[in-house]
Amino acid sequence: MTKSDSRNGRDSLIPIARDVIKHAKAGTLRQAKDVMRLPADNYTNSDRFEAELNQVIKRVPIILGPSCEIPNPGDFKTLSIAGMSLIVTRDDDGKANALINACSHRGACLIQNENGNRRKFTCPYHGWSFSNKGALIAISAQEDFGEINKNHYGLKTLPVYESAGLIWAIVNPESTVDTKSFLAGYDSMLEIFAFSNWVYVSKRTFSGPNWKIAYDGYLEYYHVPVLHRETFGVDATNRGLYYTWGPHQHIKSPATEKGHVATETLGYMSELMDKPETEWDTETLTYGVWTVFPTTSIASFDAGGRGVLISQILPGETVDESITNQYYIMEKPPSNPEAAEEQFDFFQQVVMQEDYAMGSSAQPGLKKGGIDHVLFGRNEQGNQHFHKWVDKVMSAKSDDDLNDLFKQEDA
Ligand code: FES
Ligand SMILES: [Fe+2]
Repeated sequence: MTKSDSRNGRDSLIPIARDVIKHAKAGTLRQAKDVMRLPADNYTNSDRFEAELNQVIKRVPIILGPSCEIPNPGDFKTLSIAGMSLIVTRDDDGKANALINACSHRGACLIQNENGNRRKFTCPYHGWSFSNKGALIAISAQEDFGEINKNHYGLKTLPVYESAGLIWAIVNPESTVDTKSFLAGYDSMLEIFAFSNWVYVSKRTFSGPNWKIAYDGYLEYYHVPVLHRETFGVDATNRGLYYTWGPHQHIKSPATEKGHVATETLGYMSELMDKPETEWDTETLTYGVWTVFPTTSIASFDAGGRGVLISQILPGETVDESITNQYYIMEKPPSNPEAAEEQFDFFQQVVMQEDYAMGSSAQPGLKKGGIDHVLFGRNEQGNQHFHKWVDKVMSAKSDDDLNDLFKQEDA
């Protein structure tokens, strides 16, 4: 990151904080124009789910994880997106690669490990080997096998974009989608965290309901003092202010209470209220929820040091299930690692036992016709924005149409 990136991020966050404080002082909220209705079928129909995989998840850039998860040459991890098994590697040039985890001989998975460090992947079936950039290095018993052009039989690689300490890829090797215009400058905002200098501390993986039911919970604060009354408290805010960059959004709270337990996570700006702007610290300015369309949410926490929870909510094998990866990264290693892990367990339990349990309880009613549409209030702008964008992306017929869509929004 350059100084000017960080400066730009800070300069852009100041007017946002000003706006939040203006609403906090006046007790006002900016609302969506109307209440929105969304067919229940959007969450439950298997054909719709397949279309979402093909037209959204496999077409737009998806965050694969934080850069600091694979910081060193040779580091790798495996990850599955929309049924596609991937190996994400860091090569000797320091570049991130996303390789399709399917041997070019007969398709076997090269590796099932989650994380590790290696320069070479040898297929467990017949022993072909590939570099961590995907090149086919050696064919076992080559003379017996016969002649093929090795250059044509590397692992398939996906378009990768690494920026702001995050790694994106498009799960289509042939994609011509322009990641920069998709991001609409959002990664320049995220640069202010300087995640590329942070440390990877912990990870949790667990299942949940339909991916959009799960993701809806990351997009509004309306539920917080009710569903999270035992954890965040009944006095936590239920109001969010939304700031958007193309399909991506940042949520902050216009609550005035200082030192609330939810300050970092929900983005209370009240600590800045009585200070001159020159004393507004960068850390407080970044508080709140940052959602990166269509599968990721980033929220601040304090666990004996500054950290963020990166939640990656991926569609599961069927319309009724999702897989969530929680990446806990911190600016510095936690002062007390055990206490930090306890706090991560707590966050995981909140999401599983409160958010996802509630989402799962809604699923049968949506599926069996208990209700035929859901409502998003004028105070649930984040959900309105997300679902409108899912539909916009789905209606684009080609990568060119998608690029046009992102360019229009970015203009
Ligand atoms: S399938 Fe990989 S070497 Fe045969
Ligand atoms: Fe929640």
